[in-house]
Amino acid sequence: MQWTPPINPKRYHLEQLLAARGVSLDWLNSGDSDPYCPANIARYSIVAASKVVPFHYRGAVTDSPEILGWLKELVDHAREIQAERGAPVASVTQGRSLLLLGPTGTGKTHQTYGAIRELALTGVAATWMVTTAADMYAALRPRHGIDSEAEFRRYRDASVLLLDDLGAERKPTEFTEEINFRLINWRYENHKPTLITSNLVPKEISARLGDRVTSRLIEMCQRVVFKGPDRRRGEAA
Ligand SMILES: Nc1ncnc2c1ncn2[C@@H]1O[C@H](COP(=O)(O)OP(=O)(O)OP(=O)(O)O)[C@@H](O)[C@H]1O
Ligand SMILES: [Mg+2]
Repeated sequence: MQWTPPINPKRYHLEQLLAARGVSLDWLNSGDSDPYCPANIARYSIVAASKVVPFHYRGAVTDSPEILGWLKELVDHAREIQAERGAPVASVTQGRSLLLLGPTGTGKTHQTYGAIRELALTGVAATWMVTTAADMYAALRPRHGIDSEAEFRRYRDASVLLLDDLGAERKPTEFTEEINFRLINWRYENHKPTLITSNLVPKEISARLGDRVTSRLIEMCQRVVFKGPDRRRGEAA
């Protein structure tokens, strides 16, 4: 954990987030030289989060009680483990997963990036890997000069994984089915927290992802259903 100098809230689009959580900038920029103090971990994590959050979602703040509840569980669990082990830093390594379902434009991706920023602010460390399912399949396609298994392990072993748009491909192939099963099964067996979004409606999940993936998702995930119009269409919807 590196020492991170005081951060400018404007640069990291933090004003709304700090106000929503009642966290003061004085706290965030406090601490002198202890790299393990929660405020430094928060600063470090905010800088790290800004590298994985796409520009469009740079200021996202989650207002979903289910997501906030899920994050609290992860944070509480990380702090318990830290106390038990006397570790210098509380880190998210294990916990439940979350499945956000809903039609296009209802705010699923916005909420997930809000969650990443939210977790950063708690001062509990988490290393996120973020991807859409389609980008992950593309990255894993066997090709010359790429060790696809090593690449797969980066997704499989991520301490927290955001898997956006699962089930969005038109035609699942044997390849995508195998990746889905291996990834979900590993994360299920090892209680690795995974934040998944999908446009599928609950009754389509099994047909699209198969019974064995669906069964694991049901056990490992809390489900949150988003409703409403496509926010991208605004008034025109
Ligand atoms: N709570 C919010 N406050 C402000 N803007 C929001 C909020 N939720 C969503 N938006 C905006 O609405 C648009 C659609 O949101 P988002 O991209 O999260 O949808 P989605 O559910 O992920 O859609 P898709 O299934 O097509 O990926 C985006 O421009 C996003 O920034
Ligand atoms: Mg989305």
